[in-house]
Amino acid sequence: MSQALDEIKIGGLGASRRRVEDDRFIRGKGNYTDDITLPGMLHMEILRSPLAHARITSIDASRAWNIPGVHLVLTGDMMATRNLAWMPTLSYDTQAVLATDKVRFQGQEVACVVADDPYIAKDACEAIEVEYEPLPVIVNPTQAVADGAPVIRDDKENQPDNVIYNWEVGDKAGTDRAFEQADVVSRLRLHYPRSHPSPIECCGSIADFNRATSKLTVYMTTQAPHIIRAAVALVAELPEHMIRIVSPDIGGGFGNKVPVYPGYVCSILASILLERPVKWIEDKSGNLISTGFARDIYLDGEMALRKDGKILAVRMHADADHGAFFSDAQPSKFKIGLLHSTFACYDVPVAHLTARGTYSNKAPGGVAYRCSFRVTEAMFFQERMVAAAAADLRMDPAEFRRINFVRDEQFPHRTPFGFLLDSGQYGKCLEVGLKAIGYDDFRHQQAEARKRGKLLGLGISTMTEPLGAGNSREYDILGIKMFDSAELKIHMTGKAILRTGAKTQGQGHETTWAQIVAHELGLPAEDVTVEEGDTDTAPFGMGTYASRSTPVAGAAVSMVARKIRAKARKLAAHLLEVSEEDIEWELGRFYVRSAPDRGVTIQECALAAYSNMPDGMEPGLQNTAYYDPPNLTWPFAVYLVTVEVDQETGVWDVHNIVAVDDCGVRINPMIVEGQIMGGLTEAYAMANMQFITFDAEGNCVGSNYMDYLLPTAWETPGFELHSEVVTPSPHHPIGAKGVGECAAVGGPAAFVNAVLDAIADTGVRNIDMPLLPDRVWEAITYHHDVSGAPPVRSDD
Ligand code: CDP
Repeated sequence: MSQALDEIKIGGLGASRRRVEDDRFIRGKGNYTDDITLPGMLHMEILRSPLAHARITSIDASRAWNIPGVHLVLTGDMMATRNLAWMPTLSYDTQAVLATDKVRFQGQEVACVVADDPYIAKDACEAIEVEYEPLPVIVNPTQAVADGAPVIRDDKENQPDNVIYNWEVGDKAGTDRAFEQADVVSRLRLHYPRSHPSPIECCGSIADFNRATSKLTVYMTTQAPHIIRAAVALVAELPEHMIRIVSPDIGGGFGNKVPVYPGYVCSILASILLERPVKWIEDKSGNLISTGFARDIYLDGEMALRKDGKILAVRMHADADHGAFFSDAQPSKFKIGLLHSTFACYDVPVAHLTARGTYSNKAPGGVAYRCSFRVTEAMFFQERMVAAAAADLRMDPAEFRRINFVRDEQFPHRTPFGFLLDSGQYGKCLEVGLKAIGYDDFRHQQAEARKRGKLLGLGISTMTEPLGAGNSREYDILGIKMFDSAELKIHMTGKAILRTGAKTQGQGHETTWAQIVAHELGLPAEDVTVEEGDTDTAPFGMGTYASRSTPVAGAAVSMVARKIRAKARKLAAHLLEVSEEDIEWELGRFYVRSAPDRGVTIQECALAAYSNMPDGMEPGLQNTAYYDPPNLTWPFAVYLVTVEVDQETGVWDVHNIVAVDDCGVRINPMIVEGQIMGGLTEAYAMANMQFITFDAEGNCVGSNYMDYLLPTAWETPGFELHSEVVTPSPHHPIGAKGVGECAAVGGPAAFVNAVLDAIADTGVRNIDMPLLPDRVWEAITYHHDVSGAPPVRSDD
């Protein structure tokens, strides 16, 4: 007789459990870095460069030193005496901590002041006199490689120009041959503009060096605390076991909190020098102008097509503008992230991709803003190119996708760039989406509306995303292999604490990881505390970005729970006085196969682990699992958007948004929906309103929230979400795939395709994002493509 628990009732897999962390957030009891106050704490502020490229001829900090309440003024020269003026980046480059020779972007860190309070520190920063000799400025890759271009990184040996790398993947000769066979060749060139993750909470740190214990504790806003600990150990030459990184609550990361920033390093050095805690909290302008930008890539490609719509080959080139330092945080083997995941969901026989990275006088760029290392750019180009190709063939864009999708029976499918797709039902997702948006009806309405001068458009975008780096064979950061971990301790009363090497920043790990434990062990999720972010207690992990948590740390949670279950089985056999082979498991309980009424609960096994273990068994019930995924997980999604464009003004309004996401098994459907809505909101913002760029002098235009608009509930359209397609990942222990970024990755192209569909009669192939009304109006009025690439006029 089965006594299995109802999994949903205990908050297991599939339960839309309310987020446990929200209790403290809603009550205003979150514990963010800026909430922490330590005895004797001082405050640090940073002086930033007003110019984008200039030689520093002198720095006079004497007035700052004389301001009462100032304890320390740090300049590049002082950092240099400790070999800390430069630091290594996560992409094998170097980055200035405080400028010594030159400033290389507007907003670069030049000096910092530590004082009794932040206001004194800020005033003292303004009292520092810096003389600059302006140099010519570079704001795009064309300027970077032009003859006679100033060399931005003249600090580096063997760097005669502004090229960081040339990288290629795929089969050039095979692609050339396929293009010779093409009936039609479709071309597209676009610029994916710089964007900024712009979390509500800015970056910050509190360094606390204790001379008595030689221990350095740093509370900070990092998505990857263990990586930071290793970096601090190497850069500051401190012993790793004497460094504790604590990442408390984080108010949004989105990739912005992965890199190592100069402010962190300076606060650490200041604390070591002053032997007092030093707090640095970045302000909004500092965050927007100087920390991890994303995208800024020129994509140029062509597609070889057969008349009947079959894709024969793809050829692509990417010019990536990395800013002044190449500090992307991405697997080291791949110079341009996972850009080569592009076209993965289409059955493309052969492809070739080249990429060139260049320096410019902009803040470092290339962070994985809500995406798995350049996948957003990859999917955006893919879906814009697919729309252009369908138009060139005069074929319905849905039909064109249907013809070219990787079919269900082709999985596991090897892409021409070498990825192995795990599973998917692409055609089915599309059909669900088309039905939901009322595709055929819409096309009739569109035609009718056009007769009346009204412009309606429908955009389709699909995406598949390689989520869950490692495996450790192919994925490492500076040689550190990418895997993850979980440690589970079951107390004697059956309550538990779980720690992982990931770090939640709003995704709800405290809720969902407990659900995985509930699923594996039958412990109510509310009996499991989840902790992340303290390197003294959490097992080693690579952190949370690129939606890798569920595919890797989440899998580790399953695996550690299974180890616990294996030991609990031995305890159950002992308690039931039968051999292990005679024992069966149902959720939360072991029972004797021949006598199902005779059983013990997992809680009874936990008690026995401390009070009644068999002879020779190690007491206690705890374990750790390190999970090295065999492959990435590949979620899939279709996004459909309908819009109306006003041809007099270029303003466009969204009518409907349909999202069909297949992320495998959903641990918590409500949290998954929240992730998708958040991603679609960011996608809408990127496509519609977020404008941050650079003028010819390298001034960052739009580095304020008047121009770089964060959408509120007021502007954001409603979403219709569909969850009926579920294709479990065959290699993930519970069949889950990552989802956190999918809608931000796949969404933007749906909006752009919708607007271009509405104005298809103009023959315009591209308008660069954001599709501001003046750009759309220009396209409608002059029937030409509209570029948004810098430099822009500063009055734009
Ligand atoms: O790495 P990150 O946490 O940003 O992304 P993720 O692994 O996609 O997970 C985002 C949130 O959605 C987490 O709370 C996951 O546990 C949850 N999730 C889920 O409930 N089911 C899935 N199949 C994927 C994620």
